Amino acid sequence: MKEKKYDAIVVGELNVDIILNDIDSFPEIGKEKLAGKMDTTLGSSSAIFASNLSSLGTRVGFIGKIGQDQNGEIVLSSFQKKGVDTSMIIRSQEYNTGATIVLNFDEDRANITYPGAMEHLVYDDISTELLMSAKHLHFSSFFFQPGIKPDLVKLFKKAKSLGLTTSLDPQWDPAETWDFDYAKILPYIDIFLPNEGELKNISGTNNLNDAINIILEFCNILVVKNGSHGSTIYHEGKVTHEKPFLNTSVVDAIGAGDSFNAGFIHKFIKNSPLQECHLFGNLMGAVNTTRSGGTAAFDDFDSIMEIAHSKFGY
Ligand SMILES: Nc1ncnc2c1ncn2[C@@H]1O[C@H](COP(=O)(O)OP(=O)(O)O)[C@@H](O)[C@H]1O
Ligand SMILES: [Mg+2]
Repeated sequence: MKEKKYDAIVVGELNVDIILNDIDSFPEIGKEKLAGKMDTTLGSSSAIFASNLSSLGTRVGFIGKIGQDQNGEIVLSSFQKKGVDTSMIIRSQEYNTGATIVLNFDEDRANITYPGAMEHLVYDDISTELLMSAKHLHFSSFFFQPGIKPDLVKLFKKAKSLGLTTSLDPQWDPAETWDFDYAKILPYIDIFLPNEGELKNISGTNNLNDAINIILEFCNILVVKNGSHGSTIYHEGKVTHEKPFLNTSVVDAIGAGDSFNAGFIHKFIKNSPLQECHLFGNLMGAVNTTRSGGTAAFDDFDSIMEIAHSKFGY
């Protein structure tokens, strides 16, 4: 069989984060406030996942939509620094690149997001040829992508028929409608990766056991992330909980779930046993919490493993 160009293709949302720190106070109508520090970084959970998966040494291509603007250039150059293939990213003529303005004040934060181009990625942007160039398809942030939402079943059905393995992380629904048709979508997903809160909301119950039972009926491998409690896998009637590589001095947990996914999928693509995928997911989630933001701890395989060794004795 011809060698595939990519180990994984990620379909997802793209934006930059414009992060303001040392601000006088939160905004007030009619007044002007100052910030002491501003950083513009690659945002979005799909991007953190793709970037960290690539840093681990997996060959990753990204399909998403950005604008023809400077923020779009920031997305591209951040990906290129981490080795993510950006040739499939589409640059919209009509819409600007999505951006989140993050206002950090003491322990609190207030965000405003302009979704922009990311909302306009559609099924027809993803050709059969592109899908055939990868072994694995990962999709993240369902609720941020109204353009592709209606055709997600079609996309995954096609990916499975072309022989790809598949994974999906739903992420939070900002509108909290949770209109995710799990019964139709999950049969085409090999690994479903929600956190506990998302799982309960999607299944429409506050009871975790009920939520798991509802979802398992349609699921292949269910991986539930439980923050600093670790994570649990449900598969073929077996339940496996792994404690975290606990970090007691967390810098922040932004992107921990995406880094968990990157660790898990990195091993899964190599056909590693599930337990190894699980452990490595937990390890990468923990590594993520040692630096600020979602990608700072993920330069390349050796430096990632150095953090894993020095901080978590791996
Ligand atoms: N304080 C922590 N110490 C070690 N690992 C952590 C910590 N917080 C999170 N993790 C790891 O990151 C994973 C994902 O975090 P979680 O917050 O559940 O995901 P999400 O970001 O999707 O909400 C957890 O399952 C765990 O393995
Ligand atoms: Mg998450």
